[in-house]
Order: sequence, then C-alpha cells, then structure tokens
Amino acid sequence: MQNRIRKTWPLWDIPTRLTHGLLIAALILAWWSAETQRPDLHQWAGYSILVLVLARIVWGFIGSTPSLFSTFLKSPQNVWRYLFDRTQNKPSIEHARVTGHNPAGGWSVLVLLVLLFVQSVTGLFNSDDILFNGPFYHLLESDWQDRAGVIHDYAFDVLIAFIALHIVAVFFHYWRGRNLLLPMLRGKTQDCYSDQPPKASWRWLLVLLIFAAALWAAVQSAPQPTTQWF
Ligand code: HEM
Ligand code: HEM
Repeated sequence: MQNRIRKTWPLWDIPTRLTHGLLIAALILAWWSAETQRPDLHQWAGYSILVLVLARIVWGFIGSTPSLFSTFLKSPQNVWRYLFDRTQNKPSIEHARVTGHNPAGGWSVLVLLVLLFVQSVTGLFNSDDILFNGPFYHLLESDWQDRAGVIHDYAFDVLIAFIALHIVAVFFHYWRGRNLLLPMLRGKTQDCYSDQPPKASWRWLLVLLIFAAALWAAVQSAPQPTTQWF
C-alpha cells in the first residue's frame, strides 16, 4: 500500500493555543474558587483571565494571520451563506479552510472574549457585601456597585451557555468529519494551505506582561480587597 505523506501547515500559533489552555484552566479555577469561597484564588484567577483576554485582543491585531480579527470576522452575508445557503458554491467555506475559524465561529470567538472581559471587569467592582471587595469597588456609587454585582452574577450564566454551545459546535464538526481540536492542541492542520509562518511569540509575551504590570500597579494603588470569604 502506498504510504501517503500529507503535508501539515501552521494554523494556531503558540500565543493563541496558550491563551486557550490558560483561559480554560483559569475559568475552572474562578468558578471553583467562587463555589468554595476562596477569594484569594478567585481574584487571581479573575485577574489572569482579564490579562489573557486583553493580550488576545491585541494579538488579534498584531498576531499570525489565522488569529487576526480581520481574517476571521466576516460580513453578516458571509455568515448567512455559510450557515444556511446549501445551493451555492461556497467561497466562505473554502475561506474557512484556509484561515481556521469559519464565519460563524469567528463571531463566537469575539462573543466569548467580550463575555470573559465583562465578567472579569465587573468582578473588579464587585463585593459580597460582607468581607470580599473587588479592588475598585470603592470607586463606584452604590447604584453602580449593585449593577456590577448583578452583571457579574448573570454574565457568568450567559458565559457558561456560550461555552456549552462552543463545545457542542466543536463536537458537531468532529461528527461531520473535521477535527478542530487537534490543531488547537498541536498548532498544525492538514486542511489549511496558507503557508505564512507564525509571528514571533515574544511580542505577545511582552503585551501580556505590560497588561499584567498595569493591572498589578492599579490593584496595588487601590485599597487592598479583604480576603476572608465566609
Ligand atoms: C472552558 C472554557 C473555554 C473557553 C473560554 C474557550 C474559548 C475559546 C476561544 C476564545 C477560542 C478562539 C481561539 C482564538 O482564536 O483565540 C476557542 C477556540 C477553540 N476551542 Fe475553546 N474554549 C473553551 C473550552 C473549550 C473546550 C473544552 C474545547 C474542547 C472540546 C474547546 C475547543 C476549541 C477549539 C477546537 C477551538 C478552535 C475552533 C476553530 O477551529 O475554529 N474549547 N475557544
Ligand atoms: C472571568 C473571571 C471571573 C469569573 C468567571 C467569576 C465568577 C464568579 C462567580 C461564578 C461568582 C459567584 C456568583 C454568585 O453565586 O453569587 C463570583 C462571585 C464574586 N466574584 Fe467573581 N469571577 C471572575 C472575576 C472576578 C474578579 C477579577 C473579581 C475581583 C477581584 C471578582 C470578585 C467577585 C466577588 C467579590 C464575588 C462575590 C459576589 C457575591 O457573593 O455576591 N470576580 N464570581
């Protein structure tokens, strides 16, 4: 039998894959620490998510081609064609093969990032009204403190719903014969024929460190949150 060697192409660069893995870990930690009332862990998990999301957003402008927002955020017509138009020649699907996220998946990436951003930012202004205050809680009027708390509560449910949809979509594609998970783990794919090399990861690391340092400085300048949570 002829041994066919299929070429693989770079798809998800190291920053994109690391961000994904770390986001999953930090999100599980944020949820678990909230459930088990461990405010120290909760705030650090939350800060990590905020920094990772901000760095991913910047990477969406300066990163490797498949990770750029301009590559995967397509027009509504394109999304419609991808989802519903079974009759036409589908340039959108062909495009998805080249660049990674399909037109619908591209927008879901943005939704996930925005939800994670909202969740972590509202945490900064949240309080359990007993002993655990987010670092910037004191900056808001009491109306807005309440709103931050309500959003922090409800946004989590919306986030979990989108993550569930995200995972279902990944399994749906697997069932249809396309394994999206392997490229997210290994960085390479056999589908993609874009031969552009990935961008150097140090730029992402630098952005990440700048955001981490800025958040750290901002948190230090605020009254320290209490870390008892009973
Ligand atoms: C638990 C929370 C999760 C969050 C917040 C999350 C978030 C994201 C985000 C933001 C992306 C876009 C990657 C980028 O361009 O930066 C993505 C892609 C992806 N995620 Fe997740 N994810 C989660 C869990 C999972 C799980 C459990 C799986 C495995 C089943 C998974 C599989 C994937 C795959 C395969 C892609 C690439 C999709 C594609 O090829 O278009 N994710 N995820
Ligand atoms: C994406 C990151 C985050 C996630 C997923 C998350 C998730 C949660 C969840 C599920 C709860 C429990 C809500 C409830 O049952 O009432 C909670 C509570 C809380 N979180 Fe976060 N959180 C995040 C970030 C943060 C950050 C950065 C801070 C501040 C440092 C923070 C501060 C709080 C506080 C003070 C509470 C207690 C609210 C209460 O008991 O009413 N969170 N968070």
